Amino acid sequence: MARSVFTCSTCGATVAKWHGQCPGCSDWNTLVEEVAAAPAKGRAKASPGRAVPLREVRAEEVARFSAGIGELDRVLGGGIVPGSVILLGGSPGIGKSTLTAMALGNLATAGRRVLYVTGEESAAQVKLRAERLPAGALDVPALAETDLGTVLATLEAEKPDVCVIDSVQALVAAELTGAAGSVGQVREVADRITRLAKRQRTAVMLVGHVTKEGSLAGPRVLEHLVDCVLQFEGERERFYRTLRALKNRFGSTNELGVFEMRDVGLVEVQDASSRFVGEATRAPGSVVLAAMEGSRPLLVEVQALVSPSEMVPPRRVCNGIDRNRLALVLAVLARHGGVATGSADVFVNVAGGVKIDEPGADLAVALAVASATKNVVLERGDRPVATFGELGLTGEVRTVAHAERRTTEAAKFGLTVIAAPTLRSTLNDAVFRPAANAA
Ligand code: TYD
Ligand code: MG
Repeated sequence: MARSVFTCSTCGATVAKWHGQCPGCSDWNTLVEEVAAAPAKGRAKASPGRAVPLREVRAEEVARFSAGIGELDRVLGGGIVPGSVILLGGSPGIGKSTLTAMALGNLATAGRRVLYVTGEESAAQVKLRAERLPAGALDVPALAETDLGTVLATLEAEKPDVCVIDSVQALVAAELTGAAGSVGQVREVADRITRLAKRQRTAVMLVGHVTKEGSLAGPRVLEHLVDCVLQFEGERERFYRTLRALKNRFGSTNELGVFEMRDVGLVEVQDASSRFVGEATRAPGSVVLAAMEGSRPLLVEVQALVSPSEMVPPRRVCNGIDRNRLALVLAVLARHGGVATGSADVFVNVAGGVKIDEPGADLAVALAVASATKNVVLERGDRPVATFGELGLTGEVRTVAHAERRTTEAAKFGLTVIAAPTLRSTLNDAVFRPAANAA
């Protein structure tokens, strides 16, 4: 019977029993269960290894497997690298099982050996989902199992090219006493699967739930183990889903994939800009942001609502942008733009449930808030205006990367880009048209 020990993740002390407080460093809740290493019996002294000049290292050109889903392949850097381990994180209901089931279906159709391990749903439930998905999804062999040992043995016997573990939190290593999903279990499960995957060159997609704190599978315990960390985001009630890489040993981490959840599974949205511009509301408080998502420009609508409030402090609610960034923009607007929102609730939303994580969004947020405050529509020649730029603390608009590509993308949809060196001139430049109801 293998023994387990509890190791403190802060100071590294090991104890035989779990404590709430580490006896070594007195930190709380830092002890994590691990399988005790077998004592090394009379190991011979290690002999030195041989370092090789990098020039002489043979790097074989690996052919990647295409998942048959363009947006997924692109985010991965051009497909799935054989033997790589990909962690796919996202909140429940976002579509992780759907995406992985579709990928395996396509791979099976392309003649790859695949395996879908389901630890959360029964094989019947997985089948029900597969029936809605494109053909191929029903050809995927499924194993409903939560015991890690059995899953590893199956992997060894089947030697699939690509395997999905749905989810890493559902599997249990019998050697550990902790419950499924505990930090120790998740780490052990991922570690053993990763080692097997590398040894037999099975590419593995580990599905992981994002915890309340927003980290993948516990306190980032898996991120260093795996080759790729993909984050699947969006709002459950909305159609749009975005996929991005937080870490990628085989590609860039800037790519963004956009999907739409339909009743036949996830559909790629290749013309995301045209969708978002087409759906733009053209009302006070709306402006189009010319954002960059990796190598791709993306036009999205930023909306703001400013409404008088008795609350102290007033509410600041945002979706799709960073709260602190909003606070900064509001302060700059008040101090340098002549737009005060101190006694108003401010809501800012990036339409479509897209998350924007770049300083280039500042000016769009500022213009949306200004346009909402003054109740005027932002437009040029009967078209919405597009904008991008970072705001400095002194009210200047800073240039951001890829200005040309953003402008070109906006022009493609007939939008004029408003971006001037200072916030005040930008606000003046922004051709405010009084809203119909204000006129
Ligand atoms: P799912 O892939 O099970 O999410 P996760 O594995 O991330 O928890 O799918 C989540 C939702 O998507 C579910 O509520 C039903 C919906 N859905 C569709 O709208 N269309 C479909 O074709 C499928 C398969 C699911
Ligand atoms: Mg699922």
